[in-house]
Amino acid sequence: MPAGAQQMVEAHDLLRKFYHHLLVNTKEGQDALEYLLKRGFTEETIEKFQIGYSLDSWDFVSKFLLKRGFPAEYMEQAGLIIFREKDESYFDRFRNRVMFPIMDHQGNTIAFSGRAMGDDEPKYLNSPETPIFNKSKTLYNFHHARPHIRKKEQAVIFEGFADCISAVGAGVENAVATMGTALTDQHIQLLKRNTDQILICYDSDSAGLNAANRAVNMLQDHEFSVKVALMPDNLDPDDYIKEFGEKSFVSEVIGASLTYMAFKMHYLRRGKNVNNEGDRIQYIEEVLKEISRLPNAVERDHYLRQLSSEFSLSLDALEQQQRQVFFTER
Ligand code: UTP
Ligand code: MN
Ligand code: MN
Ligand code: MN
Ligand code: MN
Repeated sequence: MPAGAQQMVEAHDLLRKFYHHLLVNTKEGQDALEYLLKRGFTEETIEKFQIGYSLDSWDFVSKFLLKRGFPAEYMEQAGLIIFREKDESYFDRFRNRVMFPIMDHQGNTIAFSGRAMGDDEPKYLNSPETPIFNKSKTLYNFHHARPHIRKKEQAVIFEGFADCISAVGAGVENAVATMGTALTDQHIQLLKRNTDQILICYDSDSAGLNAANRAVNMLQDHEFSVKVALMPDNLDPDDYIKEFGEKSFVSEVIGASLTYMAFKMHYLRRGKNVNNEGDRIQYIEEVLKEISRLPNAVERDHYLRQLSSEFSLSLDALEQQQRQVFFTER
């Protein structure tokens, strides 16, 4: 373990409890609590995810930690406090934000993300990379989700905190989130040790769709069975649940998720008008390329037939071209 790691984790666990206490029990936390309740967070989720509130103060946490004997140097390395050259003092990183503790896979608090309640930038202020926190190895909610992932033989991946938390509230307990970063090889290794089936449930905006496409490619390469759940009108999962309810989310979003190829066809079709010859030919070529990536011959045959009937093309011609793509792509 890196020097000071033990104290860094202790400080995080202590602050998690303190932030949570401020949110649920104090006058200082009232606005933050109202903000959360208005957004649809419940007492239960606030408790389960140990959500908190950081005071509107420059030095409360610095003093709090140093008074308790935590070495300033380690607390700075842990990203909780920041050194100010000018007067050689420390100030608090997180101020006046709703605090989401980030746990490691054993449930130790190793980082925080603080959400602004207004329009402050950034929207989410995160702990930096530290000796105890590596974003590309950590999945939010993994410590809760792991047994459910194993039982359901599937993990559901979200982009953000609120999405993951709302989904768990809706009964999707095998939910984890990447916290805004791309899915990494390390995330994939971690998931692979627990399941072979992944459902991607990212925001249905253009950034989310592109991220979903990249994730789907990586997961396919690592021999997962992948599905993608989409929402209408640029919504994210949390928005959707608020607008249409938990039941609808489970049956009409999660339950109606697309297979790998159905997602690819949807994705490749975006922005194209297949009544236009150029767009149509490009679309067909791109779909053939995707069909070539499918490991299973029966599946390849199925989608070739589908393409053939949709565009009234001869199956022979499609098969021939797909084989060509197959050999040039591999
Ligand atoms: P989004 O921009 O989709 O935010 O970013 P969101 O999850 O819908 O947040 P709300 O609903 O407005 O509260 C997705 C995720 O990207 C990370 C966070 O983990 C967020 O949940 N992110 C986003 C940051 O780390 N910093 C930011 O400034 C914004
Ligand atoms: Mn509590
Ligand atoms: Mn987003
Ligand atoms: Mn979002
Ligand atoms: Mn959101």
